[in-house]
Amino acid sequence: MRVEPVPALVGHVAVPGDKSISHRAVLIGALCEGETRIAGFGRSGDTESTLAAVRALGVEVVDDDVDTIRVHGVGLRGLAAPSQALDCGNAGTLMRLLAGILAGQSGRFSLVGDESLSSRPMERVAEPLRRMGARVETTDGHAPLVVQGAALQAIDYELPVPSAQVKSAILLAGVLAEGSTTVVEPLPTRDHTERLLEQAGARVTRRPRSVSVEPAPQLTLGEVAIPGDFSSAAPLLVAAAIVPGSQLTIHGVGLNPRRIGLLNVLERMGARIAIYNRRSVGGEPTGEVEMRSSELVGTSVSAAEVPTLVDELPLLAFAACHARGVTVIRGAAELRVKESDRIETVVEELRRIGAHIRATRDGFRIRGVPARLRGGVVDTRGDHRLAMLGAVAGVSSREGVELRGADAVETSFPGFFDILGQLAPDSVQYPPAT
Ligand code: S3P
Repeated sequence: MRVEPVPALVGHVAVPGDKSISHRAVLIGALCEGETRIAGFGRSGDTESTLAAVRALGVEVVDDDVDTIRVHGVGLRGLAAPSQALDCGNAGTLMRLLAGILAGQSGRFSLVGDESLSSRPMERVAEPLRRMGARVETTDGHAPLVVQGAALQAIDYELPVPSAQVKSAILLAGVLAEGSTTVVEPLPTRDHTERLLEQAGARVTRRPRSVSVEPAPQLTLGEVAIPGDFSSAAPLLVAAAIVPGSQLTIHGVGLNPRRIGLLNVLERMGARIAIYNRRSVGGEPTGEVEMRSSELVGTSVSAAEVPTLVDELPLLAFAACHARGVTVIRGAAELRVKESDRIETVVEELRRIGAHIRATRDGFRIRGVPARLRGGVVDTRGDHRLAMLGAVAGVSSREGVELRGADAVETSFPGFFDILGQLAPDSVQYPPAT
């Protein structure tokens, strides 16, 4: 696929439902009493893996529409061990949260993933679940995982790395355990699990640095509405921030304060951002975000900010290539264990199209120039965030980008190129069908 330069991105769009919340709504819905109706479900490769997994565990899911589904819960301990392995595909959130849920079921479950997921660390979730009493085996610290469910005991656990996935796995197991389970976080991470568990009737106690959950007699969600995914809005917002003359509004975007670090950093760099019509959707802050292009200046990003923009750091590094001066991003070593080693892949791909960026042990150092990058070839390496990064690099470049492996976007945002094409007509050029 080729993505050609455009003069500006102009218009109003909406993005699909939040992927993190969609996974959680289905998984928690599966543990509920009765039917959970989910509106604004973000359908993607990753969330399809979650639907397939809960179906394999005996949960009926009815697809009313692309973005509306009904999950027929089987109760807190009603999941049935299938004879086949549960395939988590590319989805880290699914594998880690499901491990927490299965730890408290009866039976033996095996979890597998694709090549990328099978190279990501799983001891971080296995270790606390073992302490709670489950038997969890990893394969040299990775998937395949085998989880043998047990009667769980509550634990107090301090996370060694800030991770919403590990925190969520422990909280979900905590709902099934005896006693009060507490997770201490080194830095605050996304709290969608806490919000949904509360909505489902669980007792959740939140403190500045920790969260506790009590065992629940039963859960009931009923209706869940999911706002647009900030991480899917982010590539469009970054494109609008750097392409002169752009003015873009994204409607109905989730604005959970633990997710929108990108807006705070871009604002510090001089971006012109406005948020309208703030409201709550399904217990999550939501609104319209408007981005107008402006001249950016370099900044530094510290470890404390990283969890609020962890999935947006590749885009931030790219924005920084266009900002006057030097930008340094520190404390982001977790990027090395995402769908690809995003420190190495981002640096290699952005250098190929003319950026002055280098990798550090735990982040990036970027020398920005307020001008379009040259363009050239970007290879996604099968990583969906790199596919969106490469597309944004195409529209904002001088010569366009040949994007290899563009279908990786299917993992989180299958309609991405259509929406980009609406905002930037003629930018997306598909190869002729053979
Ligand atoms: C996620 C948490 C983050 C994030 C991932 C989604 C979640 O991962 O990078 O895309 O839904 O909880 P970590 O928990 O590994 O930081």
